[in-house]
Amino acid sequence: MLVLAIETSCDETAAAVVRDGREILSSIVSSQIAVHALYGGVVPEIASRKHLEMISPVISQALQSAEVSMADIEGVAVTRGPGLSGALLVGFSAAKAIAAARRIPFVGVHHIEGHLLASFLEQPVEFPFLGLIVSGGHTHLYHVEGIGCYTTLGRTIDDAAGEAYDKSAKIMGMPYPGGAVIDKLAGSGSCAAVALPRPLLHDGTLRFSFSGLKTAVLQHVAKHPVTNPSQELNDLCASFQQAVCDVLAFKTEAALQQTGVRRLVVAGGVACNSGLRSRMAELCKKLKVDLSIPAPSLCGDNAAMLAVAGDYYLSNGMASKQTLDVTATWDMDSIKELLT
Ligand code: KG4
Ligand code: ZN
Repeated sequence: MLVLAIETSCDETAAAVVRDGREILSSIVSSQIAVHALYGGVVPEIASRKHLEMISPVISQALQSAEVSMADIEGVAVTRGPGLSGALLVGFSAAKAIAAARRIPFVGVHHIEGHLLASFLEQPVEFPFLGLIVSGGHTHLYHVEGIGCYTTLGRTIDDAAGEAYDKSAKIMGMPYPGGAVIDKLAGSGSCAAVALPRPLLHDGTLRFSFSGLKTAVLQHVAKHPVTNPSQELNDLCASFQQAVCDVLAFKTEAALQQTGVRRLVVAGGVACNSGLRSRMAELCKKLKVDLSIPAPSLCGDNAAMLAVAGDYYLSNGMASKQTLDVTATWDMDSIKELLT
């Protein structure tokens, strides 16, 4: 099946053409970061307007670079949620309109399900596996038993890992989103230089908390102002990154031991992080667990990732109805009942 996939949940307008949920023929991502950076974060109203501007050109570009026409498309997969309602509506309405005009099925896919299955576009992963999703809005551990079968094992009780990166970067005087900048500077710093907390590390649960870590960065910077560039800033970045990776690795190890699962998938924007990638590789080597982390282009928001589950649902008669609406919040544990 040739699927057109569309993603507009936050600040990226993306479209992709994917064959059989496996082969990416094209993947176009138009980022709005430059405009949101002026305001220090994503402005929902601006995001919706930018999606409206870009949705048609991005879809046309995806078809063109896949060397197919709209007449070749057999189904549409689109992010239904979670995300910014106004932003989601742009991609969702476009998907519905294409499906209605072409008389083909469409399916509304969970954004995190897209991230969880992005690895399949490189190499299918055997079920069951443990999924660690680390992005701007999510830090979740899932037990994945099949497409559509997800059990949440743990999640953040406050900030997501990416949010902690971006907020800490802002405190350090970096532009939005600063996650990748911290990652880069951390490479030239000492991770033992600044003592930072590892929130909830030994609470015996799989819950995460990152807001205290960000506050600790704020308090440190208030006492020891940092300039950019400086060795002090590099050291703070390295210490921050070490704290985040310590917590993520510790809880992931606990979840692997608790479930007995032998495969780990790490995805979402923060999975681009070089420290986290090498830390997870070390952990999986130690535990003899298979690790899949997609290439950075498939870790951040993109549309191709939606086509894995999208193709599966469409091929198994689980298309969405034209009356279906977007949803800003959506629980992964009951995903199948809420698809149509
Ligand atoms: O998955 P994503 O593209 O969008 C959401 O669904 O949130 O993730 C974006 C997040 C941002 O917080 C960004 O700062 C973070 O991923 N990120 C990174 C890196 N690259 C992107 N965080 C740490 N290190 C990176 N290299
Ligand atoms: Zn995302």
